[in-house]
Amino acid sequence: MSRLFLRKSVQDCEDDIRERGGLRRSLNKWHLTALGVGATIGAGIFATTGTAIVGDPLRPGAGPAIVISFLLTAMTCGFAALCYAEFAAMVPISGSAYTYAYASLGELVAWIIGWDLIIEYAVGNIGVAIGWSGYFRELLTHFGVSLPAWLATDYRSAHMAVDAVASGAVDASSIYLASALATAPQIFGFPFIANLPAFLIVLLITVVLVIGIRESANSNTAMVVLKIAVILFFCAVGATLIKPVNWSDPAMGGFAPNGWAGISAGAAIIFFSYIGFDATSTAAEEAKDPARDMPFGIIMSLIVCTVLYIVLALVMTGMAPWTKLGTPEPMVTALALADGSPRLLSISRLIVSLGAVIAMSSVLLVFQLGQPRIFMSMARDGLLPPFLAKVHPRFKTPYVGTIMTGLFVATFAAFANIAEVVDLTNIGTLFAFVLVSAGVLVLRRLEPDRVRPFRAPWVPFTPIAAILACLYLMLQLPRLTWIRFGIWLAIGLVIYLLYGIRNSRLQRVARGGKR
Ligand code: ALA
Repeated sequence: MSRLFLRKSVQDCEDDIRERGGLRRSLNKWHLTALGVGATIGAGIFATTGTAIVGDPLRPGAGPAIVISFLLTAMTCGFAALCYAEFAAMVPISGSAYTYAYASLGELVAWIIGWDLIIEYAVGNIGVAIGWSGYFRELLTHFGVSLPAWLATDYRSAHMAVDAVASGAVDASSIYLASALATAPQIFGFPFIANLPAFLIVLLITVVLVIGIRESANSNTAMVVLKIAVILFFCAVGATLIKPVNWSDPAMGGFAPNGWAGISAGAAIIFFSYIGFDATSTAAEEAKDPARDMPFGIIMSLIVCTVLYIVLALVMTGMAPWTKLGTPEPMVTALALADGSPRLLSISRLIVSLGAVIAMSSVLLVFQLGQPRIFMSMARDGLLPPFLAKVHPRFKTPYVGTIMTGLFVATFAAFANIAEVVDLTNIGTLFAFVLVSAGVLVLRRLEPDRVRPFRAPWVPFTPIAAILACLYLMLQLPRLTWIRFGIWLAIGLVIYLLYGIRNSRLQRVARGGKR
């Protein structure tokens, strides 16, 4: 049993850094904030908000009360952010939650988190790629190009669109998606439907990352300015188009048409739009003053995103009847349905889709970059095979992990349904938050004297609140998501018992071997 809970000391982590040459400490607190915002604003706000507002066959929608869902999720993430900040300042080494867990809770929990982070990074990116594709398709239409629907969606979305049209939906998006089933070529009697743009964008990003174009702090800051500008632009145009009746129309169930059930189901979906603020912690090794700046960056990026999301949600649900916003591109749909000058609305749709496509590309880049580096940390520790830590002789990038991640994400992006992928990402990431928060509690008890440059306030209340709030959101997710997640964890455990525990460097040292 004790082997499962072997801990990697902070000294060990620091030795590792020395061995491979540490990274330059050049990021200040605003760079770190920008890093968090850059990784956070993406498909969540641009694409999944529609399902959260309207609901789907598995759950009720929040309606205009989506604003409360955003607040609820922000609070949950806020508690977890304080716990992440305590760890990030204490173990200022890249590798994020995986490294924290290794240094505090031991190998088994570290493995579980590392395995779980594949869901946050790689599976999350499948969702972002699908969201990207929706806005890209819209963008193409402004240049007179229209992709056949069977090459731009997935089987489940096509089916749902057919049902929606059968029950009276007349919006352009539903009619377009519904055409996929009728027009798709048949293979062995099955209609072949695939999301080609989602597949291709992931391959393109993979090539870029193998060659080794790395986002610099400055290009990231430019990207963040652009994302914020697009959201503010949408809010500014949208604010002039608001009809207050849309927020409270009794004919559509009022402000919270499905009550608390809709609000909490919505909160569990839009959790996706907050994922990424924790990615700031992966830059801990590059922070000038991690003790002070990491907590600032993590918490400030969360605040910035929360304010933007709430304003955007208010505007969007004021622009059009909430029942009509359940498309893969809800911001475009809101502009299409709003009452205003057709020319202004068309230009706004073009600007928003272009901004969304660029914004989501940057999220894809950050997560697609992060995943192979987590693999690399795990492979260096001996928990994954060494080929995942292989660095390309010329490009100096972890190319094997990058290509494997790229193929995995691209293939699933071609066929998966965004809602299912988002649910799985959310349950996995919420679980990682639970483990990190529990880690803070455990370590305060096990090592009360360890130096903590940043201490999460109100312990034990904060970590306990984070754990309970995350569990609450997890419980709002469909049963099928729980089953998929359980299977994922079980596969991970088998791999650990068959491979990790035998090859772990820490275990070797514990048995008296060399580092
Ligand atoms: N928060 C990231 C997004 O919404 C994952 O795209």
